Amino acid sequence: MRTIIEPFRIKSVEPIHWTTRAQREQFLQAAFNNLFLLPADDVLIDLLTDSGTGAMSTHQWAAIMEGDESYAGSRSFDRFRDSVQDIFGYKNVIPTHQGRAAERILFSCMCKKGDIVPNNTHFDTTRANIEFVGAEAVDLVIEEGRHPSTHHPFKGNLDVDALEALIEKVGRDRIPLVMLTITNNSGGGQPVSMENAKAVSAICRRNKIPLYFDACRFAENSYFIKLREKGYENRSPKEIAQEMFGYGDGCTMSAKKDGMANIGGFLCTNDDVLAQQEKNLLILTEGYPTYGGLAGRDLEAIAVGVQEALHEDYLKYRIASTAYLGNHISAQGVPIVQPPGGHAIYIDARAFLPHVAPDHFPAVALANELYLEGGIRSVEIGTLMFGPQAKMDLVRLAIPRRVYTQSHIDYVVEVILEVWKNREKIKGLQLTYEAPFLRHFTAKLEPVKVAEPAVAAIH
Ligand code: F0G
Repeated sequence: MRTIIEPFRIKSVEPIHWTTRAQREQFLQAAFNNLFLLPADDVLIDLLTDSGTGAMSTHQWAAIMEGDESYAGSRSFDRFRDSVQDIFGYKNVIPTHQGRAAERILFSCMCKKGDIVPNNTHFDTTRANIEFVGAEAVDLVIEEGRHPSTHHPFKGNLDVDALEALIEKVGRDRIPLVMLTITNNSGGGQPVSMENAKAVSAICRRNKIPLYFDACRFAENSYFIKLREKGYENRSPKEIAQEMFGYGDGCTMSAKKDGMANIGGFLCTNDDVLAQQEKNLLILTEGYPTYGGLAGRDLEAIAVGVQEALHEDYLKYRIASTAYLGNHISAQGVPIVQPPGGHAIYIDARAFLPHVAPDHFPAVALANELYLEGGIRSVEIGTLMFGPQAKMDLVRLAIPRRVYTQSHIDYVVEVILEVWKNREKIKGLQLTYEAPFLRHFTAKLEPVKVAEPAVAAIH
């Protein structure tokens, strides 16, 4: 059969809330034109993030009842560690409350002022945790990964020549580790090929620099390799993940993504001395090493979730349903980051709204219009988030795992196409309040009052 269906049936449902356009106009005004400030109940389809927003399976809920809440030596920790090791293969598995806690501990133990950490593209919490210890985060994604409309099967790949040149220039002693983010979230949810991971690993080993994966969306990355990389057609996503992690020395992980859980994360390493330092820091702020800030039941949900994320029928539906959204809007001319990524579709707001200058936040204006038109919440990744140095203004539509059905996605397509038809009417925004850092979360905005400067004409 050609039709790809959701590989599950629904046992428990959660109502969503309809509102009228007039109500949404009021809600958006009360939220100072910032979708982060909206009550979630006023959103119909919430595509703000795929992090912690997924639906758990019956197997996960059943495992939750088996949670052992013992402070030390919990049986749930053993199950969690065994399941993680089965896929990731690393000697030490340290639970944390989410991905950024794993990052903070890793960089606190491995980096110091003046160090440099290369990555394909650092996620914002990864970058912030590196900068917090005085080190520098450097993005080395391949050239194709920097252009929204360019097609390439592995746009998340790290530029190996640039990595070698960087090591040559600053010396291996200033590079305590190299990271590879699979998939590359900040670069459009694009995958990294096995060939690239192998090449990066070889450079790291030659220079005796440890390689760590930011593994948040490792299962989606594995499935892209199966679909797109020669020699992997007949390998299972789990075998592909196992091979890839074998090229590294450890990883950070947010179990809120391909852990299929609503909370949790972990840090892995093959280095026993480092693991001891990490556990000492863990005890200080997260918790004892057999729970790391999580409940025993959370560990159970993750133990089951990381395995379910690798099921082939699930991944086939996951990747197909994200592509379905991207392909249906792009076929009508909507500019998106190509090809569609694993967990999200990114609309290029500068190309969608060429009459709105970047300093009038085109991606915020577009995201707000999607809310007004159809109650859809998305997120700006652009000038509001990164400041004037932002190279792109994107609207990310992140798809929660196993939550929305095809008819929800059909509705999202219809709303986006309606907004596309009326795009000339969309106006930019200006700030009325901004916090000194991470301003996008709390910013207040209003429609621009000054006349828009004439930019390029709309095609
Ligand atoms: N690394 C990547 C690639 C991420 O996408 C995230 C989170 C993290 C690390 C941090 O994990 O949230 O568990 O602390 N990304 C979410 C998102 C927030 O919406 O993309 P966390």
